[in-house]
Amino acid sequence: MRKSQLATALTATLLVFAGLYFCVTGGTDTDGSVYLTIHASAQGWVGFGTGLTMANAVVHIAYTNSTGGVTLSTRKSTGHFMPQVIEDTETVLSSNQQLATPSWARIAFTIKRPLSVGGMEITSTSPYIFAQSSSAPDKIDSQSATFHYHSQRVMITGLDLTTAAIAPVAMIATTSNTTSVDSTSGKSAEKTQNVAIIDSGSSGSSASSQPLVALPDSITYDYVLRVHGIMMFVAWVVSPTLGVFTARYLKDALGVWWFRIHVFLMFVGTGLLTAAAIILVVVFKPPPHFTGDFHRPLGIAIGAGMLLQIVLGITSDRLFSPNRTAVPWWDKAHWWLGRMLIAASVVNVVKGVLLYQDLGYDVSVGVKAGLGAAYGVAVLAFVAGEVFLGQIHHGKIASAAEKPQVC
Ligand code: HEM
Ligand SMILES: *[C@@H]1O[C@H](CO)[C@@H](O)[C@H](O)[C@H]1NC(C)=O
Ligand SMILES: *[C@@H]1O[C@H](CO)[C@@H](O)[C@H](O)[C@H]1NC(C)=O
Repeated sequence: MRKSQLATALTATLLVFAGLYFCVTGGTDTDGSVYLTIHASAQGWVGFGTGLTMANAVVHIAYTNSTGGVTLSTRKSTGHFMPQVIEDTETVLSSNQQLATPSWARIAFTIKRPLSVGGMEITSTSPYIFAQSSSAPDKIDSQSATFHYHSQRVMITGLDLTTAAIAPVAMIATTSNTTSVDSTSGKSAEKTQNVAIIDSGSSGSSASSQPLVALPDSITYDYVLRVHGIMMFVAWVVSPTLGVFTARYLKDALGVWWFRIHVFLMFVGTGLLTAAAIILVVVFKPPPHFTGDFHRPLGIAIGAGMLLQIVLGITSDRLFSPNRTAVPWWDKAHWWLGRMLIAASVVNVVKGVLLYQDLGYDVSVGVKAGLGAAYGVAVLAFVAGEVFLGQIHHGKIASAAEKPQVC
């Protein structure tokens, strides 16, 4: 009996993202349980839940486990970071024999749940959110696995999972071009399924935005961000420490080499590496870029400041005269902009690590301690440089500064 009732209550939403598919079919049983069948083409994980945004949502996350079944994990999302696992004994894996699994589905399962889970209730007007990713979580048999950032996400409104009505239900996704078509996913002959197709490839919408370059299967987004972080560590902790130390304290000791070393470190070690590390995230991250968390706009501002800093450095070199009697403004601007950029980079490196954690990835205590130690060594090196070597200017100003008794 239950089965026939369920059959009339089916409502489906099929989303198509430039070749990636997601379909949710569902309805309410007479005893108030909601059945949801989810088919997703994602290889990694899929999430579907109640809520308008990640700031307040309860989602069912599912991924294929080591024996080919499905690990189901109920999570509470309170922001744009890894949703927390919540206690949920009421949502259970179920089955729906009436629905054929479409050929594109990599993850397919049916759940039975009460109307309310985790304090979020399914009502006739509830909005839903959906996300999926091509990378599998770290521990596929654990409900508390950490998973990678989603590659597609969308908000769904107008999907009524509470009624047993056959009437087509219009599905409106936040931004896109939706078209009603015949179902390709369900095969229950007796009923009509309403299906909407969203093709972000043609509309370029942001709800289901795609990165410029799709991640190759062998690389996870997590890996891209770690490489970005390591490149930035070299560019903004290692390279400026050595480059500025050389310019400030080692002019006499290194002769003409101080300048070559300084230019190499600042232009290649900081400049090119920063540009490459920003481009790396921009190509693999779905738009929008440079917005949201403070780290992103500050990051691009540092990148722009760095270009100006390189121009000032070239100016100082070209206009340098060994007979000058005062430090020209462009030299001072180069010093001060350099100091400001380094100060801003300290903030941004820390904010980058925090953002990485907010996105749901782990940063080990060892990495944090290592970063702290590297900054500690840099500070000590400058204290030692100041005490034992002292700042050295080139040209006449240097000799004047070193022999104040002459004046
Ligand atoms: C001064 C050094 C750094 C600069 C200039 C910088 C620059 C940037 C920029 C411009 C973006 C935005 C890209 C976009 O919106 O498409 C970004 C994103 C990001 N960066 Fe950095 N970064 C730095 C250091 C770090 C470090 C040390 C980490 C640590 C892992 C890190 C982690 C991240 C993360 C997690 C994102 C966000 C990616 C996303 O939203 O999906 N960054 N960075
Ligand atoms: C995988 O999931 C199925 C249910 O879909 C379950 O019966 C099975 O025990 C799970 N396997 C492991 C190793 O947890
Ligand atoms: C939706 O997209 C199709 C092509 O993908 C286009 O022909 C159609 O005009 C679009 N409809 C709307 C309402 O934008």
